[in-house]
Amino acid sequence: MDINWYPGHMTGARRKMQEDIKLCDVIIELVDARIPFSSKNPDIDTLASGKKRIIIMNKVDMADPAVTKLWVDYYEKLGFMVLKMDSRVRKETLKVTDAVKTVCKDKIERDRRRGIVAPRPLKAMVCGIPNVGKSTFINSYVGKATAKTGNKPGVTRGNQWIRISKDVNLLDTPGILWPKFESQEIGLRIAFIGSINDNILQLHEVTLKFLDFLKDNYCNILKDRYIIEELGDSEELLYKIAENKKCIKKGGEIDTDKACRLILDDFRSGKLGRISLEKPTNIE
Ligand code: G4P
Repeated sequence: MDINWYPGHMTGARRKMQEDIKLCDVIIELVDARIPFSSKNPDIDTLASGKKRIIIMNKVDMADPAVTKLWVDYYEKLGFMVLKMDSRVRKETLKVTDAVKTVCKDKIERDRRRGIVAPRPLKAMVCGIPNVGKSTFINSYVGKATAKTGNKPGVTRGNQWIRISKDVNLLDTPGILWPKFESQEIGLRIAFIGSINDNILQLHEVTLKFLDFLKDNYCNILKDRYIIEELGDSEELLYKIAENKKCIKKGGEIDTDKACRLILDDFRSGKLGRISLEKPTNIE
């Protein structure tokens, strides 16, 4: 199965992002905590080279806490400042201001030594692949109380800076990165979390792969949720789930397509519990 689809508009988005990055001191990259590797586009390392970096492990409420800890260690060892986050919770997003000040402490110190009494606010931008939670994060972080600072002469037209505090300004439009489908595994994980339109996917095949993963890693979740004792192979398992969940067509025939959608929806809506799809030891 080949999952790779690079929409034409992404070329323009990438160029725009390149320009925006030049204006910023710090780049805040959101990744999905369930796939912190597969949802991270390595291009950003080149695009943002020389800039301070923060990784937000977003949707941490949906990921397996033990695995999340491994990822925090992994990215911290690579030199990133890492924050775990449920972006729907404003209080959590507010931690970002301190994180921005911490990663930019050299610059703050330099300004202080130069005797700049009122240093300009640090400029930050958010980026990440579609559906990772960029808008949710920006809305929570910005809240209601902030005013847009307006366009500044010389700044790329269309950009609005939002004043978060006296120390931090945020670019109001996030940079959109397209996921890197470097292997079939990565493509599948992005499909599992629902960041590729299911219409362009082979739903049946994706679901079977997802069941394979659950059997190997979270078999109790499978047994409990779908009331199954013997898991069998994934095709049989899908059939049993369809039976147990009463996925039946009009003529009485078992509807495995419906069961596929149900299983993926259960995962994506968190009904299967907290599941991480990759560990630092099994990335490809
Ligand atoms: P994007 O801008 O990067 O494309 O993503 P967006 O903010 O639109 O978020 C995509 C979906 O992810 C939204 O759900 C949003 O509520 C959800 N989301 C964002 N951050 C978090 C988080 O930290 N935890 C959890 N559990 N969910 C998060 P949706 O179903 O598409 O819309 P809705 O439920 O908000 O209506």
